[in-house]
Amino acid sequence: MTMDAHREATLGGEGRNGDGRSDWRSARMVLDNGGLDADHRMQHELIRRFVALPGEEAERKPALALLNELRRVSVRHFLREERVQASMRYPHLEEHRAQHRRLATLLDDIIGQVDAEESAFEYAYVKGKADELLQFWFFDHFVKADLPMKTHLAKFAVR
Ligand SMILES: [Fe+2]
Ligand SMILES: [Fe+2]
Repeated sequence: MTMDAHREATLGGEGRNGDGRSDWRSARMVLDNGGLDADHRMQHELIRRFVALPGEEAERKPALALLNELRRVSVRHFLREERVQASMRYPHLEEHRAQHRRLATLLDDIIGQVDAEESAFEYAYVKGKADELLQFWFFDHFVKADLPMKTHLAKFAVR
C-alpha cells in the first residue's frame, strides 16, 4: 500500500458520501474478505466519527463513548488477528502481539486525556491532539504490520 492510498484512506471518510465505507472498496485495503476486514472497517469508522465531533465540552461524553467502543472493538480484534496468525504460524506473531499491546496502552492514554476534566489543557486542544493521534494510531500499524500479512493469508486461505 502506498502513502497515497494511506492518505486517501485517512481523508476519504470526509469525502463525497461521508459514510466512511468508500475507502474500503479498494482491493489494497482488503485482507481476508472476512472478520479482520470487518474489524478494521469498524475501527476506522469509529475513529472517523470521533474526529467528526466538535471540540466542545458538551461533546466530551459522546466522544468518550466512541473511544470506549473503539477500545472494546480493538481488544476483540487484536485477539482475533493473533488467533489467525497463530493458526497460520505467522513468523512475526510475537512482534505483532507486542505492537497490539503497545497500541492498547496508547489508546488507554488517549482515553485518559480525553476523560481528564481537571486537565490544565482545554478540551478543544486535547480533542485536536486525539484526532491526530488516533488516525496515526490506526493507520501506522494497519499499513506497516497488518497489510503485510496479506500474502500469508492468501497462501493459507485462513478465514
Ligand atoms: Fe494488527
Ligand atoms: Fe488489525
